[in-house]
Parts: sequence; structure tokens; C-alpha cells
Amino acid sequence: MSSEERVKYWESAWDNGRTQWHASVVNFALQSFGHLLLPSPQRRVLVPLCGKTVDMKWFYDNGHSVVGIEGVEMPVKEFYEENGIPYTTEELPWGKLYKSKDQRIQLYCCDLFQAKPEVLGKFDAVWDRGSLVAIYEEDRERYSQFMKAVLAPDFRYLVNLMQYRPNEEFSGPPRNVPNELVLQLFGDVCELQVLETLKWSKEEGPWYDYGMQEVVALLTPKK
Ligand SMILES: C[S@@+](CC[C@H](N)C(=O)[O-])C[C@H]1O[C@@H](n2cnc3c(N)ncnc32)[C@H](O)[C@@H]1O
Repeated sequence: MSSEERVKYWESAWDNGRTQWHASVVNFALQSFGHLLLPSPQRRVLVPLCGKTVDMKWFYDNGHSVVGIEGVEMPVKEFYEENGIPYTTEELPWGKLYKSKDQRIQLYCCDLFQAKPEVLGKFDAVWDRGSLVAIYEEDRERYSQFMKAVLAPDFRYLVNLMQYRPNEEFSGPPRNVPNELVLQLFGDVCELQVLETLKWSKEEGPWYDYGMQEVVALLTPKK
């Protein structure tokens, strides 16, 4: 699959306002477990497939440096504009980089699989929400290789998973990502600790019928 094909679905989602995943408030998992993800100040945080999540502003306001990767340009621009953060841009051979003036929020507009780990550097923390669950099945192995290439030795990786009964009507995104799959992808270098399991109620959406639950898990270096 080419980068254009990979991002096409998402471009159309942004263009047509099919962005029900985007929230106007900081994700509950960060409110509850942010201290486990960021045990000390001034960390470098990676937000893969970031959209324009306000979680990035939360990291920034808490003094951390943020790098996001997003394939569609519209949300990247809107992130800076909606949060009143002045920015500059830089063309790269594999995408476009948006930077706040103080450089503490840098968003790469590119297909994640075009981003260069050696340019991004290492991250103390990863916030993976709507990311691993959005990746195409055939790209999962590459995704985990990419993430492992950018983890600092003492990393913390907080992931929000969606889990539901496989069925014929709905296969995502969000895709079903059981804990075992995370261990298959990351278990060679990570330990997984489930922090919270939140079963969706009927009011929370159409996927209740498939037993939808959100799982918040922390990945840390394997001892
Ligand atoms: C489900 S949304 C989640 C956004 C964000 N993490 C949040 O919590 O609001 C997935 C995002 O990933 C972007 N995306 C999907 N595939 C991508 C890829 N291969 N490279 C970069 N961005 C991608 C989409 O444009 C979309 O904004």
C-alpha cells in the first residue's frame, strides 16, 4: 500500500467531518495515569497519528516537549490555530514539519511509515490513542518496529486500546486490538500492565452490541 492510499481514507474523514474520535477534553487516561507516563519533568513525548488532539496541548502546558505525526495537513494546521500557538513550517523530503516558535511542539505532517526514526530521535514517553487501533493490520509489525526504534532506554508507553468481539458488521477503525496482540508486537522489549478496563454502556455508542471496551495499558522496558 502506498502512503497516498494509506492516508486517503483519513483525508476523506477529515474533509467530511467524520472525526467522532476527536475530543474537546483531555483523555481520561492521561488525567488518571499521566503521572505514570511522565514520572519526571521536561520529558520528550511522541504522539503517533496525533490528529489535532488537545492531549498534545496538555503535555505542552505541563512543560514537556511534544512530537506528533499526522498524515493529513488540515488537523495539523488547526491544532496550532485553535490553540493559539504561533508556528513556522519547513519542507522535508518526506513531509512537512510544523514547529511552535519555542520548538516544544513539533508536528510532522507525513505518513508515519515515511518518518525517519534517526531524525525524530528518542522519546521518553509515547501516548498511543487512536493510533495502534487505526493502523491497517498488514502494517502492525512495521508500526511496532518503528515505535521500538524511537523508544529511549527508560521509556513509558501508554496505550488506549479498543477491544470487541469480531463480527461481520464492523471491523474498524477502531480495530480490535487484544492485549495478546500488543504482547506479540511489543513483548520482546516491553512488559504490559493493564491499568484500566472500561466497558462501554449502551449510551456510549453503536458498538456496545459488540462488547466494546477500552483498555488503558502501560508498556515499560522488559526487565
Ligand atoms: C483515530 S484518529 C486519532 C487521532 C488522535 N490520536 C486522537 O486521539 O484524537 C487517527 C489519525 O491518524 C491519522 N493517520 C492515519 N493513518 C496514518 C498514517 N499512516 N500516518 C500518519 N497519520 C495517519 C489520521 O489522519 C487521523 O488523524
